[in-house]
Amino acid sequence: MNKLLIKDIVLINEGIRTASDIYIEGEFIKKIGVNIKSDNDVKIIDGKGHIAIPGMIDDQVHFRQPGLTHKGDIRSESKAAIAGGVTSYFEMPNTFPNTTSIKEFENKIKIASDNSFANFSFMLGGTNDNINEIKRIDEKQVAGIKLFLGSSTGKMLIDDKISIENIFKSTSLPISAHCEDEQTIKDNTEHYKRLYGEDIPISAHPEIRNEDACYKSSNFAVNLAKKTGARLNVFHISTAIELDLFDSKVDLNDKKITSEVCAHHLWFTDDDYNRLGSKIKWNPAIKSKDDRDALWQAINDNKIDIIASDHAPHTIEEKNNKYLNCPSGGPMVQHTILSLLQNCEKYGVSIEKIVEKIAHNPAIIFKVNKRGFLREGYYADIVLIDSNTPTLVTQESLLYKCGWSPFEGQKFDNSIHKTILNGNVVYENGKVNAIPYGKKITFNR
Ligand code: DOR
Repeated sequence: MNKLLIKDIVLINEGIRTASDIYIEGEFIKKIGVNIKSDNDVKIIDGKGHIAIPGMIDDQVHFRQPGLTHKGDIRSESKAAIAGGVTSYFEMPNTFPNTTSIKEFENKIKIASDNSFANFSFMLGGTNDNINEIKRIDEKQVAGIKLFLGSSTGKMLIDDKISIENIFKSTSLPISAHCEDEQTIKDNTEHYKRLYGEDIPISAHPEIRNEDACYKSSNFAVNLAKKTGARLNVFHISTAIELDLFDSKVDLNDKKITSEVCAHHLWFTDDDYNRLGSKIKWNPAIKSKDDRDALWQAINDNKIDIIASDHAPHTIEEKNNKYLNCPSGGPMVQHTILSLLQNCEKYGVSIEKIVEKIAHNPAIIFKVNKRGFLREGYYADIVLIDSNTPTLVTQESLLYKCGWSPFEGQKFDNSIHKTILNGNVVYENGKVNAIPYGKKITFNR
């Protein structure tokens, strides 16, 4: 059996920072404590000078398989995930065919079982006419329901109010909603077409997919969740104004409505469109500096419950198209943790708080079985961070199939030293282990 002892590491977990050892047997953490003694058959990892945190549970990634594998696939993108300290992911249904049936869900589980380097689950997409599939879901197996209340990559818009309400009433799974009001986006797009024809500048993106579009749709989803009692998680909040919709005082275990922010909305602002152009075209759009700063504040205030990557690769050729034909989204999963660590101190957010939002809270909200915390008896999904060795993002260091990153040229102060997944060291010395060790995630529901 695999036996590992991490000695003398600073553990950041459940709001506490302690110097400790972590002993791993097989897939699980067997013991956490000081001066743990070991037998000869135990492999020792010297943790001095490093920090150990639970691996990120990234509840929002697009790995593009099946159907869009020229952009990325489960193998390539999950490798990038573990190089970035993401040990578990929930993948989105806007693949091709869309994951809107149990059959397609099971197909993805099969692909991931053979290929995934990180632990995996998938969301089932809600449509105007798949309520019967949603009612058939085994809630222990499926991460959640994803609703595109605004259109984005993959033509998965759900816009029939009765169908949406039926889904809200028919499931106790977390409903993860992409909130942008379609009519507002359409009207704003027409306005900009009248001004610029087909040559709309990328800087118009946050004015087309503006805060009104975000607020209107988030407000609709929140009100519907209140009316129906559904368990709602609003994905990728990008504006200050939407934060008013969420409660900060309620304990997470009692919240029925939660919210999420993505690493790119915490890093970039509309000042960056000049420099990076369509590389930072996302839905929802990157907004102003004030919005970005309010999102950081909301992490501390607990108005935001989860931080995710929304890793969404497209090829550089696709991204180089003119505004109207340029897909939204960008690859993020390899640098999400490093980008959060880079800025958290500046915004008065502790690493403890970051760990809560990237690991503990997704585990609590989605009821993930034995992951998201460094606890005895839990899976050994652990990230060792080296604060003394910086990371320079170069094209050669990227593991994404699309081969580019909006962070190219960026130097982060920290590096991912090792990633341990289900008790195996799967990433060290800048290299991913050759075997895909990812397991299917199950849920305590
Ligand atoms: O920017 C985005 N890209 N937002 C989404 O909602 C979808 C994603 C994608 O799949 O490309």
